[in-house]
Amino acid sequence: MPMIRPFRVSDTEQVSRISDSSLKEDYDTALFYSIYESWNGLFLVAVEDNMVVGFINGLTEANGLSRILMLAVHNDYRYMGIGSALLDNFVSVLSSRGARKVLLEVRPSNLNAIGFYRKKGFRTAGMIRNFYNDGEDGIRMVRDVTRDKVCR
Ligand SMILES: CC(C)(COP(=O)(O)OP(=O)(O)OC[C@H]1O[C@@H](n2cnc3c(N)ncnc32)[C@H](O)[C@@H]1OP(=O)(O)O)[C@@H](O)C(=O)NCCC(=O)NCCS
Repeated sequence: MPMIRPFRVSDTEQVSRISDSSLKEDYDTALFYSIYESWNGLFLVAVEDNMVVGFINGLTEANGLSRILMLAVHNDYRYMGIGSALLDNFVSVLSSRGARKVLLEVRPSNLNAIGFYRKKGFRTAGMIRNFYNDGEDGIRMVRDVTRDKVCR
């Protein structure tokens, strides 16, 4: 199983490479820093073979809501439980912060991610027109996190 730990600034290059090869959006590294530095941000990485092989980040918002902004696993390390380990850890931390629901948006064309999120307990909660920069709509998916409540 991979080690899941908080993002460090020294991970930026590896995270950026995984993002560029896995996600359609072109994220500036400044965005990684701002999520990392934000008081309500959460940024975790998965380490395997002494390398960062995946990451997840997001924000806790008001009213018990949290949002996943990015989740990606290196192409050579997929279907090994790393995406699940990242998501499960992320949800546990959110739960300990009092989050009740976690939201995300995904492209309708990203059937892989939709399949993954369904397996992980997310359900479709609506469609957002022109959500992405290239005009593609976004599917909003949501999952309750109360069942992941952890003791502090
Ligand atoms: C989506 C992603 C993070 C999944 O990571 P992963 O490490 O391969 O996922 P896991 O190995 O933990 O898989 C967990 C479960 O989801 C299933 N799953 C994974 N990819 C899937 C797919 N493409 N279609 C259907 N189910 C899938 C696995 O079979 C597994 O099911 P199981 O528990 O019954 O065995 C990875 O495919 C990825 O990085 N995709 C590109 C980036 C992306 O699209 N991110 C989401 C943007 S919103």
